[in-house]
Amino acid sequence: MSTEKIILDCDPGRDDAFAIALALASPGEIALLGITTVAGNVGVELTQRNARLVLELCGRPDIPVYAGADRPLNREMVDAVDFHGNSGLHGIDVYEPANPLQPEHAIDYLLQTLTDAEAASITLVATGPLTNLAIAMERAPDVMARLKQVVIMGGAQRAGGNITPAAEFNIYADPHAAARVMRGGVPLVMFGLDVTHQVLAGNAEADNMRRHGGVAANALSGLVLPVSEEHVGPAQTPLHDPCTIAWLLQPELFQTRLVNMEIECDSPLTQGMTVVDMRAKTGRAPNVLWAHDVDGPATAELIISRIMAL
Ligand code: RIB
Ligand code: CA
Repeated sequence: MSTEKIILDCDPGRDDAFAIALALASPGEIALLGITTVAGNVGVELTQRNARLVLELCGRPDIPVYAGADRPLNREMVDAVDFHGNSGLHGIDVYEPANPLQPEHAIDYLLQTLTDAEAASITLVATGPLTNLAIAMERAPDVMARLKQVVIMGGAQRAGGNITPAAEFNIYADPHAAARVMRGGVPLVMFGLDVTHQVLAGNAEADNMRRHGGVAANALSGLVLPVSEEHVGPAQTPLHDPCTIAWLLQPELFQTRLVNMEIECDSPLTQGMTVVDMRAKTGRAPNVLWAHDVDGPATAELIISRIMAL
């Protein structure tokens, strides 16, 4: 595998932290060029702070962090403090890290980096609401078309929603942005709750990270706070966001299908629902490589073991 150059657009976020750490723990396969942040789990003033903090805890304060959109395109803000805490990193002590926030806006950084880079040489990984991507696509579609692919954590089909019965959080938090990205014409690979709810960690993994892991694993172990959510079994937490990086590392762990996906933007009942046409019933053109199954234990093992070695 050649080294995959990535920009990570995220809303740290406990599981976003694991996506950052997994990328950094795979230097021969992943080159993390920079992190752009967006309002999602918590406000962007905290997601950018948290991204800088996780980089410091992982020993990589040199990686630049940029702040992006502070609200969704066309709906009221929602957050996920009930799961991620008011800090966004519930489970560890947070502080202002030494590495500074970059002055450029995240979208300016993204567009300039794509302009300067060889076409199709950079992958954008998105693990929060898709607001930054949608604004960039609207502002400079030709520049965004230079992306190799966009690898997204979001959506659900079989699994149902986690923020409403119909919608997964990242899509629900900005459905209009997701709808814009779906028609952006850039290759999309998407990992929803159908697979991320099979990639689990609990007290055993947290203890292992604390006792046998390196400095980063020890620092991040508190983020594996098991929650007894019925749909994923007792005392385990889904490793949603690092599934994107795990696919870049070992795609054979996932089963995918090229499908048409549309986003419900208007219905009060189902806003943010990802309508995944698994049986090609609509006749609409396929626009997403959708992950519909996964070797959950092997993927969780890849994520935790790599981070322990960081
Ligand atoms: O639904 C899970 C997603 O929402 C993850 O990206 C998590 O960090 C939250 O943002
Ligand atoms: Ca996230």
